[in-house]
Formats: sequence, C-alpha cells, structure tokens
Amino acid sequence: MILLLLAILQVSSALDNGLARTPPMGWLNWERYRCNTDCKNDPANCISADLFLEMAKLMKYEGYADVGYEYVNIDDCWMERERGADGKLVPNPELFPEGIAALADAIHSMGLKIGIYEDYGTKTCGGYPGTKDHIEDDVNLFASWGIDSLKLDGCYCNTSEFSTGYPAVTKALNATGRPILYSCSWPAYLHDKDKVPYGDIAENCNLWRNYADIQDSWDSVQNIINWFGDNHGDLASYAGPGNWNDPDMLIIGDYGLSFEQSQTQMAMWAMMAAPLYMSNDLRTLRQWQKDILMNQEVIAVDQDPLGKQGLRVFQDPKKHYEYWTRELADGTYAVVMYRRDTSGLPRSYTATFAQLKIDAKSAYVRDLFRHMDLGVYTDQITATLPPSGSCKMFKVTPIKEEF
Ligand SMILES: *[C@@H]1O[C@H](CO)[C@@H](O)[C@H](O)[C@H]1NC(C)=O
Ligand SMILES: *[C@@H]1O[C@H](CO)[C@@H](O)[C@H](O)[C@H]1NC(C)=O
Repeated sequence: MILLLLAILQVSSALDNGLARTPPMGWLNWERYRCNTDCKNDPANCISADLFLEMAKLMKYEGYADVGYEYVNIDDCWMERERGADGKLVPNPELFPEGIAALADAIHSMGLKIGIYEDYGTKTCGGYPGTKDHIEDDVNLFASWGIDSLKLDGCYCNTSEFSTGYPAVTKALNATGRPILYSCSWPAYLHDKDKVPYGDIAENCNLWRNYADIQDSWDSVQNIINWFGDNHGDLASYAGPGNWNDPDMLIIGDYGLSFEQSQTQMAMWAMMAAPLYMSNDLRTLRQWQKDILMNQEVIAVDQDPLGKQGLRVFQDPKKHYEYWTRELADGTYAVVMYRRDTSGLPRSYTATFAQLKIDAKSAYVRDLFRHMDLGVYTDQITATLPPSGSCKMFKVTPIKEEF
C-alpha cells in the first residue's frame, strides 16, 4: 500500500508535458560561438539565422538527424538590447533579418526543432533584456514563433526567487498549449549544492544545468565528470523519462579534446543519461569526430528507455581511474572503465563484476567503440587504458546461471 502510494507520488511529481522521455539531442551554439554578433567582420561565425540554418542542414544531410540529433538551439545574444515600444522582445535584425518565426519554419521544414534562450532575471548573462515581469508575454511570443525548447538562465537574479520564478515559467509554458521543452539553470546558481531542491526542480523542468559551464578543454570535461561522479545530493535519483540532469554541451569537434578524450566525453555523457547537445562547427568536423558523435551503440545507452542515470561505482584511492555502471532497460549494463591520470604508459586495469555492482558470474561483453563482441568474461573485465583521459565502454549481458 505504502509502496503503491510512493509510486503514485513519484509519477505525479515529474513535469508532465510529454517531452524528453529520453535525453534530448541536438546542437546548441553557446560553447563554440558564444556571443559572437559581429557579422560584419566574421560573417561565417556570427550567431545569425544563416549559421543556425547551416547547422540544421548539416544535421539533416550528414546523418546526425538519423541517429537522433533533433534540436537546433539558439543561446544568448539573439535579441536587441532593449524591448520594443510594445514591451516585446525583438530579435537582432542584423542576425535574424526575417525574424525567428521564419527561421523556425525553415528548421521545422527539415523535420527538426528549434530552441531559444532567455533568463529569469532582469537581464540575460550577456546583458540583454531578461524575462522578469514579462514571463507570460515572452513565453507567448516564443510559442507564437513556433519555438520547441526554452533554456532559462539565472544571471541577474535573486536566487531566493528561483523557487517561485522557475515554476511560474513552467505554468506559462503549459498555458501556451504548445509543448515546449524546458531547460532550467536553477541548480547551477545555488551555491550550497546539498540544498538544491531537486524534487521541485524535477516537478518543473525537463532538464536542469547542475554545474559550471563547459569550456573547450579536457580539464573542464574532467571536472564535470568528477562532480557528477560524486553524485552531490543524490542527483541521479531525480533523472528519468521527462527529467534529466544536464552536465552541459558536447565539445567533441572543437579544439580541446584528443581522440581518446572525445570518446570519453561521449561515453560519460551517455552513462550520465545527459542531453547530447553538440556545440561545435559541423562544417569542419573530421571523420573520427563524426564517428564518435554518431556512434549508435553509445547513443543507445544515452537514450535507453529505462532512463536510469549511471553511477561511479568504483574509484581507486589515488583517483587515477574509476568505473561506472548504468542499468539498461533490457536487463543488461553499460560499463565504462575510465583512466584519469596523466603519467606513464598504457596499463592494464581489471574491474571485477563485484566492483561494477553486476550480480553475475559470467557475462557477454561487447566493446561499444570497436563495435566488437569480446566473448564471455567470468568474474571480471580486464582492459588496457592509455593515460590522460581514455576509456573503454562495454555492454555487459549477464549469463543466467542454470541449475
Ligand atoms: C499542461 O499540463 C497538463 C497537466 O500536467 C498536461 O496534461 C498537459 O499535457 C500540459 N500541456 C503542455 C502543452 O505542456
Ligand atoms: C532576495 O529576495 C528575498 C525574498 O524576496 C529578499 O528577502 C531579499 O532581500 C532579496 N535579496 C536581495 C539581495 O535583493
């Protein structure tokens, strides 16, 4: 009876807009293009309608859409510095000469979706008009343009107002009648991480940025993985269909990551059931970068319908290497063996099934980057890992013991 009650409470406590039943996938301009509005001097890289259209076309025609990438997301700096005389937000006419609705139509006609950015405070982080005191008007405007996703940042805010402000936007989005995915920056601005009200956040947001912005470096990726590995405030328990922790964008294809480190970001984001939003220049990716971003076996882990976020299950005392396990809907497990330290030669590492929290004597093991079945392993998996952020990612299928 109590369990049933708990189950009902659990179901009714998540945001119910039908969206993000698996982590959303797509592209978001921020990490790679920031607030580059200088179309005069840098027309190929300013955040114009042309840039978003070009990325949408590449997503469609180079195979990204076929493996699940769907949202084309605009970040900060898309608007004029002041609201119009009617109080409405105005797209920067140099960046979006035909407006956002026209861009939305073009993106929809390719079978893709479009996201936009605002900020709960008086200003956006870039100093553009925030949505405070204009929530309903702004959200209605976005819906009228055909927007499918809203990222709501938290600069220029009194954080003690988040617990009323973010839900007010949830209500306004719902009232538009248009399903709009809602990405909140609510936890990212709260400094006492243990007091983040994840229950309330999951009730109101599809995604939430937990931690610092990603930068184009391995250090940054590594810090994020480490922070999630520590599972502050039991954050993994709030993830599930409709609700996801968001460790921020994929930077595969940018300047900061080696081949091994790129595989590790992809693998770990899949283990964390993270949104997969690329922030890169799809015009210049190398084949190996595309292969990592479009690795369907790794994406399948990210998109697993059970929606259970993976956890760091083992870390050596020097924190040189660690193992993660994620339970999948079909009774199998995704496993990552990840090596952090920067010194020395490639070395052999052994993860026992007990360390991996996999209750089995033997299991089939498949390598998800080599796309190879490795055979039956008993009690443990051994793998060779080079230094500086490499990993191996496996799918582990326990073999039922017969008596
Ligand atoms: C609004 O909320 C109701 C109740 O939670 C839900 O059934 C409905 O699908 C939501 N509509 C939109 C557009 O999000
Ligand atoms: C933040 O909001 C709270 C509650 O509305 C108020 O008591 C507090 O003074 C505000 N703090 C700042 C710095 O404005």
